[in-house]
Amino acid sequence: MNCLFVGAGAIAPEYAAGLSGSSLSLAGVADLDGDRAAALAAAHDCPSFTDLETALAAVDAPLVVNLTSHAAHAPVTRTALEADRHVYSQKPLALDADEARALVALARDRGLALGCAPGTPRAPSQRRGGRLLADGRLGPVGLGYAHAHVGRVTDWHDRPDSFLEIGALYDGAVYPLALLVSWFGPVERVRVADALDVWPEREERRPSTPSHVEATLAFAAGPTVRLTASFYAPHRSREFYGLELHGDDGSLYLKGTGAMGAARDGVRFGRVGREYVTAPPAGPTKPYEYVDAVERLAATVEAGTPSRAGGRQGAHVVAVCNAIEAAAEEGGPVAVDDCGATADPPPAPVVRPAESVESEGRPGPRAIRLPAVGFGCSRYRDGEYVERADSIATALDAGYRLLDSAELYGNEHRIGELLAAPGAPDRDRVFLLGKAWRTNHRRERLLSACAGSREELGIDAFDCYALHWPSALEHRGELTRLAEESVERQESLTFPEGAHGEPATADVSLATAWENLEAVREKGWARTLGICNVSRAQLETVLETGTVDPALVQVERHPYRPRNGLVEFCHERGIRVVAHSPLSAPGLLEEPALGEIAADRELSPAEVVVAWNASRGVVPIPSSTVESHVVANLAAGSVRLTDDELARIDALKDPTFER
Ligand SMILES: NC(=O)c1ccc[n+]([C@@H]2O[C@H](COP(=O)([O-])OP(=O)(O)OC[C@H]3O[C@@H](n4cnc5c(N)ncnc54)[C@H](OP(=O)(O)O)[C@@H]3O)[C@@H](O)[C@H]2O)c1
Repeated sequence: MNCLFVGAGAIAPEYAAGLSGSSLSLAGVADLDGDRAAALAAAHDCPSFTDLETALAAVDAPLVVNLTSHAAHAPVTRTALEADRHVYSQKPLALDADEARALVALARDRGLALGCAPGTPRAPSQRRGGRLLADGRLGPVGLGYAHAHVGRVTDWHDRPDSFLEIGALYDGAVYPLALLVSWFGPVERVRVADALDVWPEREERRPSTPSHVEATLAFAAGPTVRLTASFYAPHRSREFYGLELHGDDGSLYLKGTGAMGAARDGVRFGRVGREYVTAPPAGPTKPYEYVDAVERLAATVEAGTPSRAGGRQGAHVVAVCNAIEAAAEEGGPVAVDDCGATADPPPAPVVRPAESVESEGRPGPRAIRLPAVGFGCSRYRDGEYVERADSIATALDAGYRLLDSAELYGNEHRIGELLAAPGAPDRDRVFLLGKAWRTNHRRERLLSACAGSREELGIDAFDCYALHWPSALEHRGELTRLAEESVERQESLTFPEGAHGEPATADVSLATAWENLEAVREKGWARTLGICNVSRAQLETVLETGTVDPALVQVERHPYRPRNGLVEFCHERGIRVVAHSPLSAPGLLEEPALGEIAADRELSPAEVVVAWNASRGVVPIPSSTVESHVVANLAAGSVRLTDDELARIDALKDPTFER
């Protein structure tokens, strides 16, 4: 869609930068400063204007992008709407709520779209924070602290006048306000507010409105948020645009409500009673671009449903700012007009072609959806048992959504406790993979093992229930709460031996064990079935003899043992591959090739191995007891390696590798 940029100041090139990858094209630029307009227009091969009316008459563009200075937003938007143009406006929509409401009404009456910055509530970190809320991690949210430390505009902006004129509220506070309104809906009232004139004596240019504002806002949906908007607090202060929300069950810290990138440490979650843990991106993300919101607005126009949701929300944010000023002058509380902030459904996401990800060997279309990385919950480490409850809690807090459990690991009840505790993700947000041990392959044993595991975990059904091993061993007793038995007893129960120390095998064929596993699914105790540690021939047996195909295969997989043939075989059939023991092959993390790629990408070798799996559509389930490793491994799932890097890692294959 053709658009006309009105305003060619500092922000305009930021919008223009994203145009080439979008469905928008720049058809004209207007600015009172003819040189600025001409420079931007020349870069985009379109005409420039110094007069808005002339530009509107001359340019065939249904959409005006209003990038003028703050006080000009409302008059320019009004002129454009009156000329029957859809408008996307820089923030704030207006400086006065009546004017903002009138613009929304004008757009509605003329059937035009009206959008308003900031679009950053849809940026990756903000969405990640929003997902934590949607996952129920915080429980009901009672309190929040939001900062908008715009800082000394005279220091960092070459044309600070329009900032000094309107104050930190209308420039900076709109970022946290837009985000909070997108999460919680409208502010009902400003409880109290205060405004200060703090400014260094030495500065010649001074704000014409209070330089520092504080307010306590009551959202209709419940939370009370203390907001600070300041020109005085430097923009490099610790809080900058930080937002901290506290709920009954947990807290969320978002480093930048206006941030556009996907910084790993941009979102942190703290379950009540536990330390904050970084919640990194769990999959590949694209940084937000200014033009994204404009493109989304244009898409609603093209779909014949011009959206005014952004305009309404922008108008409500202006109403909040007006109410804060009124409360600071006259005392609170001051009621805030909703301005229809939540009347429209949320805008549809921008649909862009996915990033170019290695397509060869990726799972087929029937495959189940899994997170890019899961968390291994085994207690077993180099011949010893380690306590895992704390690291599993850390993993859940960091955002892992696939837990690899097994009755063999003896800690299902601990996982169940974590999932039932306040601040845990909702059950339907976590993919739980369970496994029946080899001593339980007979039908009644398999059913009883699954029933026991479900009870320990406190769940109705597994997302996937798997055979831990294709071959069966003799049953010597139940494995419930295995970790509470002595090590000797654990070993005799799980690796039973015959009279001469040989493994005590059981006469249950793989085909029969699989048929027995299918009975678990028939009972509704597992949504899907899986199998671990299979060869391709064994998998073929299951596929040929079974009624239900495995949804998931779990095998040891790492660069020494890439199992690419098996992976390809599975992916062709829509079977997901989960890589167990991805990091622990002796010597692997010291491999020079991994070290070089790691150094190039500022990752660790372990993260490179996680990314190598994720880039091939294989889900690694590393385990770790170290918080920084837990977080780093999850974050690495969003890294996609190049073909060349993948090939260098593939070259580490060692056919003689054995544990
Ligand atoms: N189906 C099966 O038969 C089967 C068999 C084996 C394992 N599994 C599953 O696979 C999971 C993972 O396997 P695993 O526990 O054997 O080993 P692993 O995940 O391959 O490796 C764990 C080791 O790597 C270290 N580590 C983890 N992240 C690291 C990082 N970012 N940087 C450096 N070191 C790092 C850990 O130490 P720190 O604690 O110090 O980080 C630990 O020593 C198990 O928990 C289990 O769920 C399944």
